[in-house]
Amino acid sequence: MDSRSLFSVRRLSKTFPSGRVALSCVDLEVARGEFIVIAGANGSGKTVLVKIMAGLMDASSGEVFFEGKPLSQAADALRVSAGLVFQDADAQIIGETVAEDASFGPKNLKLPQDAVKEQVLAALKAVGLEEKADFPARSLSGGEKRRLAVAGILAMGCKTVIMDEPFANMDWPGVRSVLQIAAKLKSDGKTVIMLTHELEKTLALADRLAVICGGRVVLDGTPRETLDNLKPEYGVRDPRCSYRAVEDCSWL
Ligand SMILES: Nc1ncnc2c1ncn2[C@@H]1O[C@H](COP(=O)(O)OP(=O)(O)OP(=O)(O)O)[C@@H](O)[C@H]1O
Ligand SMILES: [Mg+2]
Repeated sequence: MDSRSLFSVRRLSKTFPSGRVALSCVDLEVARGEFIVIAGANGSGKTVLVKIMAGLMDASSGEVFFEGKPLSQAADALRVSAGLVFQDADAQIIGETVAEDASFGPKNLKLPQDAVKEQVLAALKAVGLEEKADFPARSLSGGEKRRLAVAGILAMGCKTVIMDEPFANMDWPGVRSVLQIAAKLKSDGKTVIMLTHELEKTLALADRLAVICGGRVVLDGTPRETLDNLKPEYGVRDPRCSYRAVEDCSWL
């Protein structure tokens, strides 16, 4: 295995008890420090893939290696160094207030109290939520909850950040703040795995673009290579178009 390999996904399959096949023989390598975007239509298997990679769901067959070890032996390393920002931001809120919520991860890592405070404050600042530190976390808007989830991961100092549809419900400043964070993670040498349909918002940051269709990785390459090989049935729109007139502003 390549020494830069962070995640190595081998022949991963997932079939739910209902018989629904969510993943079918997926192979995927993610190198340390890489920024990979994974795109695919609704229901193509993106979230199931990263949930298995993050150790939150069992596979039906196949294996995931993290830092060269099978996930079953890498649970501790994974917990400390990889964070997943959920697609469903509500499902990720644990704390009463915004600051408490962002503190949950670093407290769990048993960091000293002062360090927790400092890291939480810096993380809330990074996502533009420092003024809402004492607000009830559940009272935040959808986009703010997503920023809070990002803050929680940042506060843990994770080396790998997995973001599942980070732009959903986000206004323009929100999208920009997530992108600025993602760019900073990248320049700090961290690994970013981003699942999104909204390629036009983020592809410039990506080293790689993979496409999943019907539970299979159908394309995996540089963003340019992947876009050049898109097929309509993959359900991913090539973002390399420019809007010049109101009449052009349609995804139809
Ligand atoms: N807990 C579950 N039980 C049964 N089926 C599931 C479960 N979770 C996901 N699935 C099914 O697995 C398939 C892949 O789901 P997944 O959530 O990975 O899609 P996705 O690519 O993330 O889609 P989206 O773009 O809508 O987020 C879907 O058909 C979904 O219905
Ligand atoms: Mg999903």
